[in-house]
Amino acid sequence: MTEETAAFDVENGIAWVRFNRPDKRNCMNPALNRRMMEILDELEFRDDVGVLVLSGEGSAWSAGMDLKEYFRETEAKGLGAIRKAQSEAYGWWRRLRWYGKPTIAMVNGWCFGGGYGPLFACDLAFAADEAQFALSEINWGILPGGGATKVVVDLLSMRDAMYHALTGELIDGRKAAAWKLVNESLPLADLKARVTEVATILLKKNPIALKATKDAIRRVAEMTYDNAEDYLVRAQEAANFHDNEGRKEGIRQFIDEKSYKPGLGAYDK
Ligand code: ACO
Repeated sequence: MTEETAAFDVENGIAWVRFNRPDKRNCMNPALNRRMMEILDELEFRDDVGVLVLSGEGSAWSAGMDLKEYFRETEAKGLGAIRKAQSEAYGWWRRLRWYGKPTIAMVNGWCFGGGYGPLFACDLAFAADEAQFALSEINWGILPGGGATKVVVDLLSMRDAMYHALTGELIDGRKAAAWKLVNESLPLADLKARVTEVATILLKKNPIALKATKDAIRRVAEMTYDNAEDYLVRAQEAANFHDNEGRKEGIRQFIDEKSYKPGLGAYDK
């Protein structure tokens, strides 16, 4: 029987996707990376999915890459196998970064090294106070690859990024929130309720606008002001092509019907 390395349930518009190798602390082997890509494919355009949440089964979110299967056994097969394994891992993280639906990392426990790839790929991240994060690469003699260095440079201050990467020290969820590696940290017992609350807020918004907005946030980060201004005009006009009525309805309910105020909440879809 093949191990179900990742699993999901869909409930009330939320796809709850889980790393599912709890006995191996959800470290990412090639089978898990392939399965995650399949799951992302399966869920992206389903009408009953509005938000995707990524969590881990058991005590870990993800203990990073599988040092045995992803590194040692793959390296033994040569460069072709290494590049294939990398493209499978990086592939689903990239797919997640540009996913068609908003995504939330729900970090319930251990999060190491390669785990920072999918962590960063999720649009929002909420951690348990009890969760533990580290760039542990330095502890076994490599640099933080697979994008992990880029993740901490993008999210943390240079001093915190440098300290985190050079020492390999653990930080808990609270410190991860203070360092802006995640949006918030709260007791594990309250984590799922808070993530459900945030997902429910997103489910009320126009889905075309959510996708356009999340892409815009990531894209404009690398642009000059003028380029961003131009990109945003084009991005909104492209969104109009996919959603002719949504924003008009949003204006109508405010201006004509006076049934809501955009400053205080979303229009009724
Ligand atoms: N790669 C391969 N196997 C792993 C990994 C991993 N990253 N993490 C855990 N496992 C395996 C263990 O070898 C063990 O297997 P076994 O039951 O066959 O002996 C099983 O998962 C359980 O692990 P334990 O160490 O017994 O679990 P414990 O709860 O005591 O500790 C912890 C959890 C701290 C996460 C520990 O497993 C650990 O340090 N894992 C490695 C974390 C890490 O540094 N990952 C690499 C980051 S760098 C990168 O991703 C490129």
